[in-house]
Amino acid sequence: MKMWSGRFRQPLDPHFEEWQRSFPFDQKLLRYELAASRAHAQALKAAGIVTPAEFGLIATALEEIGKTSEQQAGYFDDPEAEDVHHFVEKKLVALIGETGKKLHSGRSRNEQIATDLRLFVRVSVDNLRTLLGDLLEALLDRAGEVKTLVMPAYTHLQRAEPVLTAHWLLAYFEMLFRDGERLLECRERANECPLGSGAVTGATLPLDRELVSRALGFARPTANSMDATSDRDFAVELVNSLSLLGIHLSRWAEEFILFATQEYAFITLPEPYSTGSSAMPQKQNPDALELIRGKSARIIGNQMALLTAIKGLPLAYNKDLQETQEPLFESVATAGHCLKVAAGFMRQVKFNQDRMKAACETGFMNAMAAATYLARRGVPFRQAHEIVAKAVQKCVVQDCELEQLTLEELREFSPAFDADVYEHLTVENVLACHDVPGGTAAHRVQQALKAAREKLATMQEAHGTHA
Ligand code: ARG
Repeated sequence: MKMWSGRFRQPLDPHFEEWQRSFPFDQKLLRYELAASRAHAQALKAAGIVTPAEFGLIATALEEIGKTSEQQAGYFDDPEAEDVHHFVEKKLVALIGETGKKLHSGRSRNEQIATDLRLFVRVSVDNLRTLLGDLLEALLDRAGEVKTLVMPAYTHLQRAEPVLTAHWLLAYFEMLFRDGERLLECRERANECPLGSGAVTGATLPLDRELVSRALGFARPTANSMDATSDRDFAVELVNSLSLLGIHLSRWAEEFILFATQEYAFITLPEPYSTGSSAMPQKQNPDALELIRGKSARIIGNQMALLTAIKGLPLAYNKDLQETQEPLFESVATAGHCLKVAAGFMRQVKFNQDRMKAACETGFMNAMAAATYLARRGVPFRQAHEIVAKAVQKCVVQDCELEQLTLEELREFSPAFDADVYEHLTVENVLACHDVPGGTAAHRVQQALKAAREKLATMQEAHGTHA
């Protein structure tokens, strides 16, 4: 029996009937549907629509549905249930008969789905932030471990200046930490309770919306029933945030793929996160990283699907809104898997210290430090730049590095060069001269690492303090 068949004389076209069902995918909302139903039953009791005894029956039956769904294989095999709301009502009536039919008093599936999805978003943000926290922790652990290890920093993918490997890892920490903050902001806006909005213009019974909102741990009831039943901003915001997270993970993956090539060989891929080739026996491929890079495309696609589904909708509920569920679910699941794989990879990847260090010894990555040396001695930087560039040109011809030019040779370019210039050109001193907050001088990186650890601890403590 349908929830709405009374008005109809003809049955639904069987193909259309099957096609319009959302139960195959919205059954994952069962626990939220049960919690929201219990809260609604409480409001019905408070309004005197159901007796305390009836409330007791309903609450116990809802609990039983939850338990059985976890224990009984095939529990969800119900070809008739149109959606998770219909499914719960059917189960309730099967368990407690007529009393089960009272639960739908004063409510609509339009507000139910909006509520279930907000609860889903809330839990998803918490889970994703836990997984993200684990990846951030892995980045910090590795950064702490590679204390003095250096590598080239690139601009335009050309060697630029040496950098501490810890500083490079901390760059990813910052990007991903911002994603965590965005997730939290999205959670805060999602955390309002639509129940009591009715189908479109508000409940027809005097329901205590504050009570319902509190029972579900929401910050407050939504302000407008038409908005509440048709709003999916919270889904859009979450998937937007996940797109950016996906893009950050994709950039991270791309750089590690590059660094794992024989040409760079800065890192060695961990075997548990690599695959072989069925054709070429020697291959160890970075499939885990490539999949992370590839999966970000799905999330970005889902973002577009969500935005486009909502774009032309007049107020309030329209069935198109059912189409917002799958992109949301898929994005959350995909982001979760990517984070988990990235954290595991990050913990096991091996840094090839000798290759990374050797790469810092060629390519004139001390040229800017040489120009700075001159600038400190009163040469205007524009001129110092020109002088060092000329010296580099000579080195290119001679196939040597700046520090291999004699003092006489250097002085041909500028008399401001002195014997102490050589100590300014060592990798250690080039690093040390970037002595500003956010720079790569060793003690600055140590400070940054400490600050990052504190930020992460605050983020992880924040877990569980939110309803
Ligand atoms: N399965 C529906 C959805 O996800 C639930 C709301 C149905 N409401 C309606 N008026 N048909 O949107």
